[in-house]
Amino acid sequence: MEPFYVLISTFLQVLLILTCSVDASPTGYRHIANIKRSAAELAESYDYVIIGGGQSGLVVADRLSEDGTKTVLVVEYGDIDNNKDILLPSTGAASLGRDFFNFSTAVNYHLNNKTFAIQAAAVVGGGSAVNGMLLDRGAAEDYDNWEKLGNPGWGFEDLLPYFRKSTTLTLPNKELQQEFGIVEDESAYGDGPIYASYPPWQWPGTKAQVNAWKELGVKSPAKASSGDAVGVFWAPSALDPRTWTRSYAKTAYHDRAAPRDNYDLLTKHEVLTIKFTNSSTHDPLPNNSTSTLRATSITFRNRGTREVSTVSANKEIILAAGTFHSPIILQRSGVGHFPLIDRAKIPRVLEVPGVGVNLQDHAYMTRQYDYNTNVSPNPDMLDRSSPKFNQTFYDWAQAEYTNHQRGPLTVATANTAAFLSLNTAVANTDTITSSTSRARSQISLPGTYTTSLRIGFNMQESTVLSSLSSPASAALAIPFTGKSSSPLIMLKPLSRGTVSLDRAAPFETPPLVDFRTFYHPVDLQLFIEIFKFSRKWFEAPAHRKLGPVETAMQKNAVSDAQIELLLREKVLPSSGDAVGTCAMMPFNRGGVVGPDLRVYETMGLSIVDASIIPLIPGAHLGATVYAVAEKAADLIKARA
Ligand SMILES: Cc1cc2nc3c(=O)[nH]c(=O)nc-3n(C[C@H](O)[C@H](O)[C@H](O)COP(=O)(O)OP(=O)(O)OC[C@H]3O[C@@H](n4cnc5c(N)ncnc54)[C@H](O)[C@@H]3O)c2cc1C
Ligand SMILES: *[C@@H]1O[C@H](CO)[C@@H](O)[C@H](O)[C@H]1NC(C)=O
Ligand SMILES: *[C@@H]1O[C@H](CO)[C@@H](O)[C@H](O)[C@H]1NC(C)=O
Ligand SMILES: *[C@@H]1O[C@H](CO)[C@@H](O)[C@H](O)[C@H]1NC(C)=O
Ligand SMILES: *[C@@H]1O[C@H](CO)[C@@H](O)[C@H](O)[C@H]1NC(C)=O
Ligand SMILES: *[C@@H]1O[C@H](CO)[C@@H](O)[C@H](O)[C@H]1NC(C)=O
Ligand SMILES: *[C@@H]1O[C@H](CO)[C@@H](O)[C@H](O)[C@H]1NC(C)=O
Repeated sequence: MEPFYVLISTFLQVLLILTCSVDASPTGYRHIANIKRSAAELAESYDYVIIGGGQSGLVVADRLSEDGTKTVLVVEYGDIDNNKDILLPSTGAASLGRDFFNFSTAVNYHLNNKTFAIQAAAVVGGGSAVNGMLLDRGAAEDYDNWEKLGNPGWGFEDLLPYFRKSTTLTLPNKELQQEFGIVEDESAYGDGPIYASYPPWQWPGTKAQVNAWKELGVKSPAKASSGDAVGVFWAPSALDPRTWTRSYAKTAYHDRAAPRDNYDLLTKHEVLTIKFTNSSTHDPLPNNSTSTLRATSITFRNRGTREVSTVSANKEIILAAGTFHSPIILQRSGVGHFPLIDRAKIPRVLEVPGVGVNLQDHAYMTRQYDYNTNVSPNPDMLDRSSPKFNQTFYDWAQAEYTNHQRGPLTVATANTAAFLSLNTAVANTDTITSSTSRARSQISLPGTYTTSLRIGFNMQESTVLSSLSSPASAALAIPFTGKSSSPLIMLKPLSRGTVSLDRAAPFETPPLVDFRTFYHPVDLQLFIEIFKFSRKWFEAPAHRKLGPVETAMQKNAVSDAQIELLLREKVLPSSGDAVGTCAMMPFNRGGVVGPDLRVYETMGLSIVDASIIPLIPGAHLGATVYAVAEKAADLIKARA
């Protein structure tokens, strides 16, 4: 009986997969039996229940289900997006309003009281489905700092195997390598499911931009991807080199897990709470301590019918709802800072003051220039909002991509960037990192900070200030592609924001997010200095050949006071890299999870997304989130 059953079921699976891949309709995936659309289709319990089918959630789901011995359920707020444009490198995030949550930041006092739309993905694949695909990694020092904050096993040497495990490298063709001087450290990659690739096209103007950095004395590291990420260098995109389309958590991890009988994905359902049982008879933890609280089930709501259901986990509930949503799911469950939970009239479960604080992101502004004598072709020719837009060239580029999978549309945001330590940009870094500024920082923290949070912040502040004085990690980044305007990104902020549930309607409203950009006085001072420094790049001889002209508004910002006014108007609080709201730190330093990623004082509950990152690294977050999630999966498997 059994072999026959297995045969039939394998046959059916193959048939289903074939049906799915042959059927190009946007609803084709629904034929795969284990994409669930309603609670009624689920089992009563799974070994692992993962909250959020975003970037980290899908990695962990794939790894926990791959040996077939454990059952895994992922509950995701969004849907699978099968539209082709999600895969196109050149359009990417811009066109995908449909795949984002719709909510805004609190008024930012230091950014002229403005509010900003928050960039958080609501789709299977999460941030990896909508991001700019740049797959850069931070410097070794960025990750060693995590370990220094009390997280043994989380330094760069510990993470490098997981950076490798998640990625496979494809170098650009020989001509491009030679023409543009692209160097990659092949030993920094493995045979993982995410394709790290260099597209077959780079814009010629990039060469002048690279040379301008060299004229300023900026070096190119040989091993940027294995920890030496300071200087001007190339970084791959998350691109499938067979088709030059987006390689992301859905295509790389979910698609290979989907046929497994022990893996289910429920879409279009919002997880509301985590439920705990409270008993003194739980099994001890691997470190031989016990807690009376064990996370045993979740409640979740159908976004259409609003029906609420429950599903339980035999082993662990794994939070992967991202930096904005993981903390509010804890708070809704009674885990967090009690005063906040009391005000929302939610029953107290566990006092963890670090839930929803310590929010960090990469604030940035666009350095706006025109190029009067740019080489042709250049990316401004494809930009409809640029006076240099060229319809003929645009049509050609579309045809190249559609008919031959090549040309400029294979390029995502960028593959080149300057990641600079502060001493490259500022002659005397001490003026910025001085003790005077430090003392003032105390007033910059949110009023809700408890003593343990303040102690934890002081540790972070010393760590960040010493990295700002160090040549071994970057303080600012300028990615560039030959376009006349480039973003100027601040990588090591000291300001700390908050995420909290709306006490008036905790189950109906999106998280309240306050980035508190520039609340720490060092941040504003630092941004003023890097703004001034960025001019030198445009003024370097190689760059002058492109005829750069600063737009009037930015050109007129000369004195520190004028620059400050400009920054308050032009800086954006987020590059989509938000981290830190369930930080991995010691409990008595404001941490939410320990180095085993388990929520303190609980059993059966861990967090695996960007919210656990205690200090934001000097890189975009995608590559780091893959590495963290791969390591998380190993930790969870090891204790099963
Ligand atoms: C616009 C944008 C551009 C970016 N550009 C780059 C880039 O070029 N390079 C780079 O490396 N990084 C980039 N990043 C950063 C990177 O993509 C993110 O840091 C990363 O994807 C975060 O992964 P995560 O797993 O922590 O969260 P996410 O991937 O956001 O996953 C969280 C998931 O949880 C779901 N969810 C939330 N609440 C609930 C709930 N209550 N119930 C069920 N599900 C829920 C969400 O729908 C989402 O799918 C960018 C990010 C954004 C937003
Ligand atoms: C956000 O708004 C867009 C545009 O109206 C919509 O398509 C999308 O579904 C909304 N997102 C969510 C999560 O509801
Ligand atoms: C921001 O709002 C505060 C409080 O309402 C006000 O005092 C301040 O002047 C405002 N700042 C700006 C730049 O408008
Ligand atoms: C837990 O206790 C067992 C049995 O006493 C012991 O062998 C083991 O080393 C302990 N583990 C830890 C992490 O302390
Ligand atoms: C769990 O039980 C312990 C006593 O066994 C009690 O002190 C604690 O308050 C309980 N916690 C919750 C959330 O009920
Ligand atoms: C537009 O692009 C085409 C094709 O690359 C080129 O031949 C033409 O000179 C461009 N036109 C302008 C006004 O730059
Ligand atoms: C044991 O691990 C749990 C869960 O990570 C943690 O809360 C607890 O503090 C640890 N206990 C000791 C004694 O290390």
